[in-house]
Amino acid sequence: MENFIDLNEISTYQLRKILEDAKKRKKFRKNLNFLDVDKKAPLKGKLLIQMFEKSSLRTRLSFYLAIKQLGGSTLTLRPDELHLSKGGESLEDTAKILSSFGDAFMLRTDDDNKINEFKKYLSIPIINGLSPSSHPTQILSDIFTIEEIKNKPISKLKITWIGDCNNVLNSLISASVKLDFDLTIGCPKGYEPNTSILKWIKRLRKKIYIFNDAKKAALNADVIFTDKVISINDKVNKKKKLSKFKNFVISQNIMNQAKKNCIFLHCLPRGDEVDDEVFKSKKSKVWLQAVNRIHVQKSILLYCFGKLR
Ligand code: CP
Ligand code: NVA
Repeated sequence: MENFIDLNEISTYQLRKILEDAKKRKKFRKNLNFLDVDKKAPLKGKLLIQMFEKSSLRTRLSFYLAIKQLGGSTLTLRPDELHLSKGGESLEDTAKILSSFGDAFMLRTDDDNKINEFKKYLSIPIINGLSPSSHPTQILSDIFTIEEIKNKPISKLKITWIGDCNNVLNSLISASVKLDFDLTIGCPKGYEPNTSILKWIKRLRKKIYIFNDAKKAALNADVIFTDKVISINDKVNKKKKLSKFKNFVISQNIMNQAKKNCIFLHCLPRGDEVDDEVFKSKKSKVWLQAVNRIHVQKSILLYCFGKLR
């Protein structure tokens, strides 16, 4: 069994295998219904337990369909209904019960330590469904979407992130190291990625390019990503932060700096960080991006269960 916690803990070989498997599985699903099961039902009889300590629409639905299409099933626990969150049961005991009632555990949490604690006590795989420091299932799926649309490896493309340097970007940075692509970041001064990440990049002798100017960051990009300026449960002065990002709202003007066939991606849900004109334009691939999560979650699950082809 394998955990899926952070992209930088997974080998390039395994990440590529997940992407390849997802490609084959997506092709095979044409003309099937949402709940039709893949050939050989590779996760028949398996139960994925999910828990969301923060809201979710896409991650919840995509894991639900992913395990179903592999022949298994899922149960979603509400954290406020467990003894754990009320202090009536330890995390260690909760983990032991999860391990004896289910086959894998997907957790979305506000606390990175909780993922590490669960990992220590679970004897089943744990999947990070978003934490304050990363969102690995999202970014692996986004790479799938980019390669599907552009029909070439991401290492041949210029990828740009404009906006808040948050959990989603952290996973994109890890992916840029693992899958060796060019990453440019546009963000206001003082809102750059945290220094431990920048030091990690330097230690690996990799490079990311950071501009405090959105137009410069967008120059010649093949892909422009953004995300909400205020993430779920972000404890900041919202008014102040939003005003700092006002020149980083993705507009047609910014998109015009990029390559003609540049695409726009956003993991969703969105706020005001992108103009409607761009969000609803042909360049925006956000709906395909969302739906592809089903296909990639399936291959992530198979990786965790040691059943990747
Ligand atoms: N992109 C994403 O993770 O969406 P949800 O928060 O709706 O799961
Ligand atoms: N950065 C966002 C992503 C939501 C899917 C958040 O953490 O809220």
